[in-house]
Amino acid sequence: MFDLKEYISEKKAKVDEFIKSYFNPSIIPSILHESVLYSLTAGGKRLRPILCIASYEACGGLQDITPYASAIEFIHTYSLIHDDLPAMDNDDLRRGKPTNHKVFGEGIAILAGDGLLTEAFRILSNTSYANVDPSNLIKVIQELSSSTGVYGMVGGQALDLISEGKEPDREIVEFIHLNKTAKLISASVKSGAILANADSEQIKKIEKYGLSIGLAFQIVDDILDIEGTTEKLGKPKGSDEKKGKMTYPKVFGIEASKKKAKELIDIALRAIENFDQKAEPLREIAKYIIKRSS
Ligand code: IPE
Ligand code: IPE
Ligand code: MG
Ligand code: MG
Ligand code: MG
Repeated sequence: MFDLKEYISEKKAKVDEFIKSYFNPSIIPSILHESVLYSLTAGGKRLRPILCIASYEACGGLQDITPYASAIEFIHTYSLIHDDLPAMDNDDLRRGKPTNHKVFGEGIAILAGDGLLTEAFRILSNTSYANVDPSNLIKVIQELSSSTGVYGMVGGQALDLISEGKEPDREIVEFIHLNKTAKLISASVKSGAILANADSEQIKKIEKYGLSIGLAFQIVDDILDIEGTTEKLGKPKGSDEKKGKMTYPKVFGIEASKKKAKELIDIALRAIENFDQKAEPLREIAKYIIKRSS
C-alpha cells in the first residue's frame, strides 16, 4: 500500500537538503542570507516541489530532479514574503513564525523575495544538476515564467489586491484564484512532466490535473481562513475577512465552496485515470488537498 506520509517526508527531506546547501554565506550579505533562509526553512509543506517530482515520476522519469523542483519552492516562498508585506496582505505570521518583514524589515524582505525569484531561474538554467535535455529546461523556464508573471500569479495578486472591499463577483474571484494560485501549481506538475519527456497528450492531462487541484487548493485555503486555527495554519486565521478579500466563500458561500473543491478533485482524478500506478502519489496528493487542516 502506498504511504503518502512517507512519500511526502522522503521528498521533503531532499528539497530541504538542497535548499540548505544552495547558498554560500561567505559571499552574500549576512542579513540577506539570514532573511532568505529564514523564510525558506520556516516549515513550508513543499507541496509544489513534491508535486513536480511526483509528476516527473508518474511520467516515467527516473533521475533525481530535486534542484529543479526546489527552484519552484524558491518562487513560491518569494510570493509568500511579498504577499505578507504591509502594502499587500499585511500579515504578521507565516509558517508559524513572524513574517519576514517583521524580523528583517520591509526593504530586506522585498529584496529576499526578489533574490529568491531570480535564483530560481539561475537554478533552472543550470544544466548540470541532472542529465536532462536542455531544451526541456527551456520549456520549464517558459512554463514557470508564464504562470508566475503578469499573465499568471502576479496578475492574480494584482486583481486580488484591487478587489479588496468590492462587491462579490464570480468572474473576478475565478480569475484571481486561477492566476494567483492554480497556475503555479499546474506549472509545477507540468514541469515534472516536461522533464520526463512526456508526450503532449500526457502533458495536457497533467495540466488539467494541476489546474483543478490548484483551484481546489486556493478554495480550501479560503475555507481554512474561516474554519481553521491559527496554530495549525501557522498564519493568522481571519486575515481575508479583515482585509475584505474577494474569496470563494464570500462569493459562493461556504457549503458551495466545499462542494466545488470536492468536484475539482474528482475532475483532477479523472484527468489522470489512464496513468498507471506510478501516478498513485498524484492521486493521493489530490485527495489530501481537501482533507488538509494546514
Ligand atoms: C500558501 O501556500 C499560499 C497559497 C497559495 C494559498 P501553502 O499552503 O502551500 O504554504 P506553505 O508553503 O505550506 O507555507
Ligand atoms: C496567496 O493567497 C497567493 C500567493 C500567490 C502568495 P493568500 O493571500 O490567500 O495566501 P495566504 O493565505 O496569505 O497564505
Ligand atoms: Mg494574498
Ligand atoms: Mg495572504
Ligand atoms: Mg489565504
